[in-house]
Amino acid sequence: MPISHLLVALTAAVTSAEAHFTFVRVRQNGKWLEPTRYIRNKTTPFTERDSPDTNYHVRLYNAPTYAVTDYPDSVRCGRDNMVHATVTDILTIQAGDKLEFAHHRAEPEWPPEMWNNCPDERGSCQYTTWNPEGYVDLNHPGPFVAHLSKVPEGQDIHLYDGSGEWVKIYSLGLELGNDSQHPVHWIPWNDEGIPTPFVFNVPKETPAGDYLLRADLIYTGVFEFNFTSFPAQVYPSCLQIRVESDFGGSLPKGIRIPEDLMHDSPGMRTSLSMYRYEKVDEDYVYPGGMLWTGTDMVVDKPSLLVS
Ligand SMILES: *[C@@H]1O[C@H](CO)[C@@H](O)[C@H](O)[C@H]1NC(C)=O
Ligand SMILES: *[C@@H]1O[C@H](CO)[C@@H](O)[C@H](O)[C@H]1NC(C)=O
Ligand SMILES: *[C@@H]1O[C@H](CO)[C@@H](O)[C@H](O)[C@H]1NC(C)=O
Repeated sequence: MPISHLLVALTAAVTSAEAHFTFVRVRQNGKWLEPTRYIRNKTTPFTERDSPDTNYHVRLYNAPTYAVTDYPDSVRCGRDNMVHATVTDILTIQAGDKLEFAHHRAEPEWPPEMWNNCPDERGSCQYTTWNPEGYVDLNHPGPFVAHLSKVPEGQDIHLYDGSGEWVKIYSLGLELGNDSQHPVHWIPWNDEGIPTPFVFNVPKETPAGDYLLRADLIYTGVFEFNFTSFPAQVYPSCLQIRVESDFGGSLPKGIRIPEDLMHDSPGMRTSLSMYRYEKVDEDYVYPGGMLWTGTDMVVDKPSLLVS
């Protein structure tokens, strides 16, 4: 596709506000919990700009935040999340628990049909036109990443803004598919088909304490464009958790958000060929820093690049 066409496609994607998504629901050890009860809600509509150089935009609930933002809270845990933090409950989990995140693409208010009796035990369903089978698809390719940030000693989680360090505990990225012209296959997006479920265990070595657990699908930007044309988009949501654990102490050293999730941070941009699914950049790493396995910090890159 010529670049001019690509830009038109990108612009179209950005302006259709209903077409994006938010992670709004969590499942703990097989049981789906009430949407947004433990996940900080967002304010909609909300007006902000992408950077000091751009105009103000009215953003609806599911709209992206750009990784050039001047609004740290929006990149950390979603637009205006601190206003909603005090009314968000804390989910108690045991270190090692299995969590699953579900997203929605419809703007609130949400009728119960969007949460109940969804296909395949999913936590959200689409009862309108996008996906007749009822699955909620994703309209952007890119990695899903999850991070933990420990609430500073003595601070109430409801007042913690996520300005401390964040340690990645999960990522779901890409594999090589069967299309020889376009072998890059983003697993979460699944070519806008049925997305792969976002399921992972909180490491059993996680020290006891209160944490924000941030889930995000990052729509990576492109190197070759001037980044102001197409910076990465983030779709963060934060779960408030209290971890019960036999382990004490603290997490390994993590990243800062937004500082290390900016348009030019590792993994936030790809080459144009990778963007076009033609090849994986040889030095590509998933965004958000090293991955903590519970015992080690490892470089987080696609398994096909691990030699
Ligand atoms: C979350 O925010 C949306 C949009 O403002 C609102 O419609 C919804 O009721 C909120 N949910 C809760 C649990 O407050
Ligand atoms: C490639 O094709 C095989 C055989 O049809 C199929 O099992 C596999 O899921 C495909 N892989 C991808 C990534 O689509
Ligand atoms: C590219 O970015 C630079 C620096 O932000 C800016 O001065 C320039 O106008 C941009 N060019 C285009 C074509 O957007």
